[in-house]
Amino acid sequence: MAQDFEVRRLGPSFFAEVVGIDCSRGLEAADFERLKAAHLEHGVLVLRNQMLSPEQHIAFSRRFGSLLVHSMSQFNLAGHPEILLVSNDKHPDGRPVGIADAGRYWHTDMSYRSEPALGSMLYARAIPSEGGDTSFCDMTAAYEALEPAMQQRLEGLRAVHYFSARWEREARQGLRPPQTQEERDRNPPVSHPMVRTHPETGRRALYAGGFTIGIEGMPDAEAVELLDWVERWATQSRFVHRHAWRLHDVVFWDNRCAMHLASNYPETMRRHMHRTTIAGDAPYCRPQPAEAAVSA
Ligand code: OGA
Ligand code: MN
Repeated sequence: MAQDFEVRRLGPSFFAEVVGIDCSRGLEAADFERLKAAHLEHGVLVLRNQMLSPEQHIAFSRRFGSLLVHSMSQFNLAGHPEILLVSNDKHPDGRPVGIADAGRYWHTDMSYRSEPALGSMLYARAIPSEGGDTSFCDMTAAYEALEPAMQQRLEGLRAVHYFSARWEREARQGLRPPQTQEERDRNPPVSHPMVRTHPETGRRALYAGGFTIGIEGMPDAEAVELLDWVERWATQSRFVHRHAWRLHDVVFWDNRCAMHLASNYPETMRRHMHRTTIAGDAPYCRPQPAEAAVSA
């Protein structure tokens, strides 16, 4: 029987809440298609009140594509490496169980790979009573609101994304263990267009974020300034929705058209999330149809 669920927009131009769906059961085709269409339309969905075992979380995520395993394998759930632990729990010997600070900078997941993640599905299994929100920004709306001259300038540019540059920045602040050379070598720098055509909706979005270290063919100082400008532009409040977690929320974001940002919470409180990551394809920017075709 079809599930009777509702989809309600919560954000300014994107981000919706889904109430009344149970993702622990296999969704039938019509429900799945409706949910997938809502995800493409809103970019980020919060699915309320989910009770998912790791197996059910993985099975539900796989409906959207194959899953990626995070390269920092000590933070993956034992027996289920498809689940990355975003957690401040500690092993008895004091070592962190997961990545506690996952993404306290605007980013889109795994943009440092040649084929970055399509989406990520983060499931709240323990949340602090204050803090720990996750903010999202709408990179499609941010692109569409740009002056045409800026759209054109960015269209030809490719940003360089490098995982280790970001990891080491966090490690220097004591937030993460240093990487081994082998871990560094797993993700060499890659470049991606700064304007990306969404492969399913055909809409254009900005594409950049916190793993970027420069822009191909541009002096570093100028590149850093432009990357900073793009980030400030895209993260203006009119493009942002800040999500205050409820226990058992699953937030499923589209990394191809949204960035996100984690925020602080009291260290004494527990925050424990399970993340699956859905594989995506290499970003590209399709030329716009000629003006004549548009006005015809
Ligand atoms: C992530 C991430 C943000 C958060 O899991 O990819 O960026 O608030 N998480 O935990
Ligand atoms: Mn992230």
